[in-house]
Amino acid sequence: MSEIIRAPKGVPDYAQNDGIEFLAIRDSLSEPIMLAGYQYIELPIYEDTNLYVRGVGESTDVVSKEMFTFSDRGDRSITLRPEGTAGVMRAVIEHGLDRGQLPVKLWYAGPFFRAERPQAGRYRQLQQIGIEAIGVDDPALDAEVIAIAYKGFKNVGLKNFTLKLTSLGCAKCRPAYRKLLQEFLAKLNLDEATRARASINPLRVLDDKRQEVQSQLADAPLQVNYLCEECISHYNQIRDYLRLFGVQWEEAPRMVRGLDYYTRTTFEFDHPQLGAQSGIGGGGRYDGLMSELGGQNLGGIGFGLGVDRTLLAARAEGLAIGDKSIADIYLIPLGDAAKNQVIELISQLRTNGLRADMAFGDRGLKGSMKSADKLAAKCVVVIGDGELDSKIVNIKRMADGKTVESSFEELDSNIKKLIEEK
Ligand code: HAM
Repeated sequence: MSEIIRAPKGVPDYAQNDGIEFLAIRDSLSEPIMLAGYQYIELPIYEDTNLYVRGVGESTDVVSKEMFTFSDRGDRSITLRPEGTAGVMRAVIEHGLDRGQLPVKLWYAGPFFRAERPQAGRYRQLQQIGIEAIGVDDPALDAEVIAIAYKGFKNVGLKNFTLKLTSLGCAKCRPAYRKLLQEFLAKLNLDEATRARASINPLRVLDDKRQEVQSQLADAPLQVNYLCEECISHYNQIRDYLRLFGVQWEEAPRMVRGLDYYTRTTFEFDHPQLGAQSGIGGGGRYDGLMSELGGQNLGGIGFGLGVDRTLLAARAEGLAIGDKSIADIYLIPLGDAAKNQVIELISQLRTNGLRADMAFGDRGLKGSMKSADKLAAKCVVVIGDGELDSKIVNIKRMADGKTVESSFEELDSNIKKLIEEK
């Protein structure tokens, strides 16, 4: 026998019940996006490596350690997309979407790739749903984006998540704060690598998880206390609008995001039952990104929600996720003539909007009933010679065994009635 081939390390499959749950989570997260006027964009899975180096930032872990980068056959460096924002920006600039109606409001969904060390909730192929709202600097837009993510998690049914919010300042007030933080860090007892990080991106040191580093950071200056007037006003307005959207949050002045493009508003959603990988979504404003990528100087704000982790969070909260019933009606033919009739019937039932399946493989009544159970079919109809003669069948509701007689013609309306009656 040949050896079996397994999926690459850290790449999950979502099969059977997992597949049902995955789709249900994705749909619940995307519903509030569709209700808010965002248009779908299908992005390339790989891009020119420079897009991420310039867009996401060379000093980030995502770019410096986690990218899947290859040379293509023409010796061009390409990278499997580690995130969606840079790709959306590239598409907006390339197709001039920013020359039309503003804000440009886009959403996307699909796999992203990061060569992280796999563990529970941390995958090398991860799934996100994201939105980007580009071209209008209105704090109401920041609040809308955050509120959509919040609604998405509520829509899934999650109760125990928290929203963490802060402002990272702008090109005007950040440099002075950055200098202050660097001066503070210079006085600490840090190793060589951390010192190097402090000189490239001092904010990242605030995020260091090691106790010996954290214990020295208690008095570190925080950006929220050094915002310019415009940033203070922007941040205050966002919080006013968030109240109007009915969103609750916690102030998180020490929050550091893993990507370099953020300015002003940044946020993360955390789920306390997920252990080390507790971030179920995050995002923020990125006012310098478009010009960094060669476009005009327009800002934007967006988020990425982790579908994998949201599913884990829903399971941790014990939620019922998705409809595990595969079919409204499962038809079982007994004999060849009955099989022909069943094929005609499932086609008619599907046309009429019912999820109809049949027993394949001529397995007889007992085996077929087992299949109906496994698929959690809502109703079952058995067709043998008697039913073919009389053209009358019994529809059996599986939940309680109730049966209803029906002609072939009225089968779909009788099934619908029986399902809805409960
Ligand atoms: P991010 O925080 O890097 O942001 O990722 C967003 C979400 O993707 C995380 O909160 C997490 O739920 C999920 N995620 C990230 N890495 C993994 C992984 N290895 N395994 C499982 N889930 C993961 C971004 O990607 C930004 N592009 C979001 C954004 C959009 N900011 C502005 N616009």
